[in-house]
Amino acid sequence: MPTPKTFHVKSFGCQMNVYDGERMAEAMAAAGYASAADATDADVVVLNTCHIREKATEKVYSDIGRMKKRRPDQMIAVAGCVAQAEGAEIIRRAKVDVVVGPQAYHNLPQLVADAATGAPTLDTDMPLLSKFGALPARRRVGPSAFLTVQEGCDKFCTYCVVPYTRGAEVSRPFDAIVEEAKALVDAGAKEITLLGQNVNAWSDGKQDLGSLIRALDRVDGLARIRYTTSHPNDMTQGLIDAHAEVPSLMPFLHLPVQSGSDRVLKAMNRSHSRDSYLRVLERVRAARPDIALSGDFIVGFPGETEAEFEDTLSLVAEVRHAMAFSFKYSPRPGTPAADMAGQIAAEVMDDRLQRLQAVLNRDQEAFNQATVGKRCTILIERAGKKPGQMLGKSPWLQSVIVEDGPPVGSLIEVDIVAAWPNSLVGVAAVAQAA
Ligand code: SAH
Ligand code: SF4
Ligand code: F3S
Repeated sequence: MPTPKTFHVKSFGCQMNVYDGERMAEAMAAAGYASAADATDADVVVLNTCHIREKATEKVYSDIGRMKKRRPDQMIAVAGCVAQAEGAEIIRRAKVDVVVGPQAYHNLPQLVADAATGAPTLDTDMPLLSKFGALPARRRVGPSAFLTVQEGCDKFCTYCVVPYTRGAEVSRPFDAIVEEAKALVDAGAKEITLLGQNVNAWSDGKQDLGSLIRALDRVDGLARIRYTTSHPNDMTQGLIDAHAEVPSLMPFLHLPVQSGSDRVLKAMNRSHSRDSYLRVLERVRAARPDIALSGDFIVGFPGETEAEFEDTLSLVAEVRHAMAFSFKYSPRPGTPAADMAGQIAAEVMDDRLQRLQAVLNRDQEAFNQATVGKRCTILIERAGKKPGQMLGKSPWLQSVIVEDGPPVGSLIEVDIVAAWPNSLVGVAAVAQAA
């Protein structure tokens, strides 16, 4: 195989997977590879995969097949959670050149170089010393950037592969995070979203995520802070207080609940109840009354009865989420739930998902409608579809379209004049005469 010179990274998973994709690209660039805008043109394509549901995993194999047909000479590296879960099996089944797990990707450039001159290479180690120390510094980023502060999960929900693909819960050191935040701001970020599989479990032994957010609030040039994904049991009072006290912490909380039925939550090993979840939300709303709430839901967990599903509907009716993600349960190899009795038929899952999404969509539209007439600051992230149109994000994470908007990276005040199911329309606010 000729020595590869160009690369392209394609990310398929969650926000942390996207963050990993950026850092792999930076590692490849630092090693002298040039970035190709299009996957077809690249000598090496890095597929940064997701294992969370069956569909995501199967997509990897169909993608590899398609790529091999199109350009048999192209080098393929499989990274991400499927790489961790399936390891050498991917090399056997799909004849790829490199397999690299989420904790080993600082070695990607070397693995690519070795595979170019020899046999396929694999690294799915979860080393004691974290990859972060071995990665190059951040370069250019957009106005809204991700920063991983915590990785891995010790919760072992019975349906979930993440504890296996990402390993144990590890918090990055306070100073390393603040340093990376400053580098991101220097590289163009105005907003940082702190990432972790259980981001609110972040701790350095003394301080919690609330303290970290307070420290980041003091970073010059950082206008907005967000964090995701949180676990209901790790919402410390310090973090809840931060929502009341830290101006740059945006009024948005993604707090997955999965089900409204205590029996199902127990079978999922969620270790919170319907009631304890609702009580956490009450405290958060007391601290920040205008907070937008988001959640994740799974329908059709093994054994879920119609009445238990209706408990989820009634919880949703009680909370009125601003945004939500809902999924049909997908049995994952190696997880306890995959072997549980009472697997639910596909038609039942389809029906429940539709009913749930109908309510969630209605709630999202109602939340969007309720912002009409409000004045708020938006961060411009990219150009819109039509000439002159720009797209920004509201404090509540809604997409806001402005005609003739200012350039990417601007923070501007707008009046929200209209709302659609998935976006708002804003008009630059005219300053009131004093
Ligand atoms: N750490 C986060 C996110 C985990 S993955 C958390 O605890 O909430 C993101 C979402 O995918 C989960 O919240 C869950 O709703 C969904 N999910 C995870 N495993 C799944 C499975 N086997 N089938 C269907 N959805 C799943
Ligand atoms: Fe998966 Fe549960 Fe951990 Fe979230 S808390 S990553 S759903 S095991
Ligand atoms: Fe997918 Fe791994 Fe994220 S399984 S959701 S890419 S942690």
